[in-house]
Amino acid sequence: MAKNVLGLAAVGGRRGGTLPKALAALSDEARLVAVCDLDEAVLARWEEDYPGIVTYTDYERMLDNPDIDAVFIATPLRLHAGQAISALNRGKHVMSEVTATATLEECWALVEAVEKSGCVYMMAENYCYNRANMMVLHMAQQGVFGEITHAEGAYIHDCRTLMYNSDGSLTWRGRIHQEWNCASYPTHSLGPVAQWLGINRESGDSLDFLVSCASAPRSTHRHFRERFGADHPGANPEYWHHGDSQVTILSTKKGACIVLRVDWSSARPHNMTHYVLQGTTAAYLAPRHGKEDPLIWIEGRSSDSGKGNPQWEPLWTYAAEFEHPYWRDWRSRAEGAGHGGGDFFVLLDFLRAIKEGTRPAVDVYDAVTWSSIIPLSAQSIAGGSIPVAVPDFTRGK
Ligand SMILES: NC(=O)c1ccc[n+]([C@@H]2O[C@H](COP(=O)([O-])OP(=O)(O)OC[C@H]3O[C@@H](n4cnc5c(N)ncnc54)[C@H](O)[C@@H]3O)[C@@H](O)[C@H]2O)c1
Repeated sequence: MAKNVLGLAAVGGRRGGTLPKALAALSDEARLVAVCDLDEAVLARWEEDYPGIVTYTDYERMLDNPDIDAVFIATPLRLHAGQAISALNRGKHVMSEVTATATLEECWALVEAVEKSGCVYMMAENYCYNRANMMVLHMAQQGVFGEITHAEGAYIHDCRTLMYNSDGSLTWRGRIHQEWNCASYPTHSLGPVAQWLGINRESGDSLDFLVSCASAPRSTHRHFRERFGADHPGANPEYWHHGDSQVTILSTKKGACIVLRVDWSSARPHNMTHYVLQGTTAAYLAPRHGKEDPLIWIEGRSSDSGKGNPQWEPLWTYAAEFEHPYWRDWRSRAEGAGHGGGDFFVLLDFLRAIKEGTRPAVDVYDAVTWSSIIPLSAQSIAGGSIPVAVPDFTRGK
């Protein structure tokens, strides 16, 4: 039986800094107990902002603290799986930042650790929770789209200034660009789309195989040359392995196609929430930027349908009928937290799963399936865009 007020700890105190904000709206449910970071300056800021909080530089030592029921892992991507498994082995619930894993070995090890521990594991894929994405989910679950045939998702975010420290050394994002060539950050795009298609869920559909291709790396070295001069190793195009833009096509077992694009180095305004959904009876188009509305067309309801000139309508036209219950009930609380309410809803679902024993909204099978696009796309690109099967991490469940 879970405690009334759960003790939470953050590991990785920068992105982890969003936890207190989300928690402020859920203070009856959980409280902040501790934070762990390798950087003393980050810890000093937490001590100033949250007097009484216990700080650690040693994660394993933090896990000894019996007041901690659950950890929010917000460290660099390649640490997530190992830190999650350590916490689960110590009986702590885990909410992990994206992506859950970076290799197939980690995917299977994480599934095994969650199954053995009996603890709750949830991946904090906050993009599933923005208002439009949840409304589309609600519509899809009620059959508005009919049979879904096609979906798109893209994460296009020029992160080049986040790839280095001020002395020119690479951050974890920079190292990924130096060492990997794959769809290296796929879950913001795939997460909402997989939920719309009911992947590994009620629809009975699952991912079958993928094919990926990558552009050449063209932009990152230009930025490094401008910022650090021609003598920096990053000024040389050969230094970078990661193409600017990665495109992955996924086929589902029931025959839907999903197109994903990951691009975090091209110079341009960002569009981190590009989505498209096509069904037999409706189509959805996400806004390209903050000044546009999301658009929907519904057969038999949107104007001019059946007359050869169907018209898009703002998605919000249907808010009274199809607003997701989360947004209907929690909007004012959610909007105060980060990422369009996403950071609040992720925490709400995680705490509910612990307290009520419900299935986490993004459980370990979703988390590793979506995250496995990293190693699988790498395999496809390395083989010359060969098709690669997506494993069934549920083992037929
Ligand atoms: N969901 C979202 O919208 C979103 C947004 C931003 C970042 N993220 C994710 O959050 C994570 C962190 O991103 P960031 O931008 O804060 O990165 P960052 O590099 O700015 O910060 C990482 C922090 O982790 C600390 N750290 C590194 N190794 C550690 C260890 N072994 N133990 C404890 N602390 C350690 C560092 O000192 C640093 O303070 C990444 O996985 C990223 O993908 C998600």
